[in-house]
Amino acid sequence: MTTRHFLSLQDVSEIELKQLVARAIQLKDARRKGAEQAPLRGKVMAMIFEKSSTRTRVSFEAGMAQLGGSSIFLSPDDTQLGRGEPIEDSARIISSMVDVIMVRTFGHERLERFADYSSVPVINALTDSFHPCQLLADIQTYTEHRGSMEGIKVAWVGDGNNMCNSYINASALMDFQLSVACPVGYEPDQALLLENADRVTVTHDPSVAIENADLVVTDTWASMGQEEEKQQRIRSFSGFQVNETAMENAAKDALFMHCLPAYRGLEISDTMLESRWSVVWDEAENRLHAQKALLEFLFGPSSAVTE
Ligand code: CP
Ligand code: NVA
Repeated sequence: MTTRHFLSLQDVSEIELKQLVARAIQLKDARRKGAEQAPLRGKVMAMIFEKSSTRTRVSFEAGMAQLGGSSIFLSPDDTQLGRGEPIEDSARIISSMVDVIMVRTFGHERLERFADYSSVPVINALTDSFHPCQLLADIQTYTEHRGSMEGIKVAWVGDGNNMCNSYINASALMDFQLSVACPVGYEPDQALLLENADRVTVTHDPSVAIENADLVVTDTWASMGQEEEKQQRIRSFSGFQVNETAMENAAKDALFMHCLPAYRGLEISDTMLESRWSVVWDEAENRLHAQKALLEFLFGPSSAVTE
């Protein structure tokens, strides 16, 4: 049997994605009612972090514990990965000892190589190209607040980065229109844009993207690994801040999301996260529920205990 990985949203079908989100909502409800089950008793997850994290680490580690399993945090500082042991060797060895592995790294090809040599499911916990786990939480959050995303207009304002690329993938699976507003030179992946030309458009004017949008999303202007470009990026992205004035032109009941961490005064105004449009705290919490649904899914139907 081939090992099922989750390296991008393209690894799940439209139906599977909808089932994952529905299951995440159920798991959230079960947790609220104190009716959780422990289907992953005895299972172990390795968590490889080559970049920093708060939400991803806490949500995966807590989620695995809540499902009855356990996890091992591995960073380059205290493993041989940081001293140059090949990714292929690491993948073979770690996967021979655990049941699932999540990886946060730089180049997406590094994750793909890891998955090629892993005998257990590998989850993308963020690469320079994609952040699919965040999209599970974002889709869950929109669904909880407004129902289906089908046919809505989503505005992505800012860098054409890993989150933006994942929104492009989501637009195909959830059937929404995506308007990306970014400065010249900061466009998302060209191949993805071409593949999704029927639903994704790029503009260099944020007001065009935000006009009548049902969901407005942004992210940091300088992602992890781009620290040295930060000052240049602050100059390039001037005019791309999402703030209350800009949001007035969105649809009447529009929502605002940000994967966090956010930089107040840069990509958002000081007050945006607390504004009437913002659902960022639900979005962050939903990382927990959505990833628990993902873990159940990757372990197969036998692990899904229905309440
Ligand atoms: N949104 C997100 O992935 O946050 P962390 O970097 O804190 O994990
Ligand atoms: N685009 C950001 C997302 C952080 C969760 C980064 O890659 O740093």
